[in-house]
Amino acid sequence: MTIRELQDEIIRLKKAKGVCILAHAYQGQEIWEVADYIGDSFGLSKKAAEVKEQTVLMCGVRFMAETVKMLSPQKKVLLANPIAGCPMADQMDTDLIAQMKESMPDYTVVAYINTTAELKTICDVCVTSSSAVKIIRNIPNDKILFIPDCNLGDYIAKQVPEKELKLVRGGCPTHLRMTKKDVERARKEHPDAEILMHPECHPSIVSMADFIGSTTEIMAYAEKGTGSEYVIGTEKSIVEHLGYKCPEKSFYPLSKDCVCHNMQATTLMDVYRAVKGIGGEEIIMSDELIAFSRKCIDEMLRLGK
Ligand code: 13P
Ligand code: SF4
Repeated sequence: MTIRELQDEIIRLKKAKGVCILAHAYQGQEIWEVADYIGDSFGLSKKAAEVKEQTVLMCGVRFMAETVKMLSPQKKVLLANPIAGCPMADQMDTDLIAQMKESMPDYTVVAYINTTAELKTICDVCVTSSSAVKIIRNIPNDKILFIPDCNLGDYIAKQVPEKELKLVRGGCPTHLRMTKKDVERARKEHPDAEILMHPECHPSIVSMADFIGSTTEIMAYAEKGTGSEYVIGTEKSIVEHLGYKCPEKSFYPLSKDCVCHNMQATTLMDVYRAVKGIGGEEIIMSDELIAFSRKCIDEMLRLGK
């Protein structure tokens, strides 16, 4: 079977079985081409709740499938490849954060969406990389405990200096692979290019970027921008996707090592097997877990208005 034949079979099966396929932006181009919606984890979860299909297949990592389930508890939610986790989401121990919360009663606990459903149950407000600054500005309390990404936390703290942000040591191992040397090399090799960077990168290099934004914001900036060359400081798949979207522009990875092996674990064959009903994993969450974990997401929606 060729890639094209497999894609055609996935498209035929998803229509016949009423499956909506969601792909996070970091999935490969061959998965993008069979997806109904592409985006970031929160955008996809909102889409999943709106679509008529009663089965939703998430091509991404586990916390994303959990978020889909929280917002669509009545739907059958599948994770295309059960081994695809997020090391950052798995970094924080719920009991430890619960202890911190107890010892800091005057702090509002804000969680990046890249956290497990279990951890979300003890958090007050959830944020995404694109909504974090706005949401935190809108929280009435000035004292914030931000988990789990201290790099994103540092970026937010600089944007919202009026708030006191306490950070914990956590972060995305993929984005931390990019270094100052990579930025210096990119400036030398591509002097006319703008460097676009995700705030999950280390603060020492975020300060060297021309534009800082979430994956969706980086893509929109590069697509709409008048420049012809861009260096992409986020997961390497975005370089390829932008190349397909804007073939007349040149895109370079800030580092060839910025690859999320969890995101890349999902293959087109995994998607096929999950749509066919012989693969993937159904996300099962108790009513209690759904109710408690989605409270911080509802709070994000309220504060984001
Ligand atoms: P965004 O898609 O929200 O920018 O997040 C990046 C990421 O690391 C997803 O796991
Ligand atoms: Fe997690 Fe980073 Fe991979 Fe995103 S890129 S899934 S935050 S490890």
